[in-house]
Amino acid sequence: MAKNLVLIGFMGTGKSTAGRQCARILDRPFLDTDALLVERAGKPIPQIFAEDGEAAFRDWERRIVAEVASQGDKVISTGGGAMLNPDNARVIRASSCVVLLTAKTFAIMRRVGDRRNRPMLANVSDPYSHVVELGAKRSPFYELSADALVDTTDRPVDEVVQEILAWYEQITARQAHHEEV
Ligand code: S3P
Repeated sequence: MAKNLVLIGFMGTGKSTAGRQCARILDRPFLDTDALLVERAGKPIPQIFAEDGEAAFRDWERRIVAEVASQGDKVISTGGGAMLNPDNARVIRASSCVVLLTAKTFAIMRRVGDRRNRPMLANVSDPYSHVVELGAKRSPFYELSADALVDTTDRPVDEVVQEILAWYEQITARQAHHEEV
């Protein structure tokens, strides 16, 4: 069973778009932790935050991450807050090659245009500064868990996907070599 390819990183870095395309090329199932969560909870993310609170969302997220990480041969994209929980980081690292997607703040702002879908940004007066601050707080967590980093700012998805797949090949080859010796 091959290791999963897991994409992590901040909101609006293109994890779902690139993940879906990586899965198609690798001919593997694609799982999006946010999409699974919405399916299981039976309501959209902003409604979960509003009715049940962020803690309930994080609890759903933790259970779904544990479930998907325990499988192999998958391409998985994670919600932007998932890697902040050490339990999530641990189970993902144990079963997966982890590629961190990054983007400059202006590119993130462009991609998360409709903030109503992203409760972490919905009620802030200065979303640009908030993204900068939150990004600075979260970067060390992302970096700690990542095997490789791919910047997606102003780059076509195809190019980003090729770079992710090249890393995936390199990391799995390196890990296989370590397991042999
Ligand atoms: C969140 C990011 C979102 C989603 C939720 C919380 C976060 O996922 O999980 O709104 O804490 O950064 P995306 O990174 O796919 O937007």
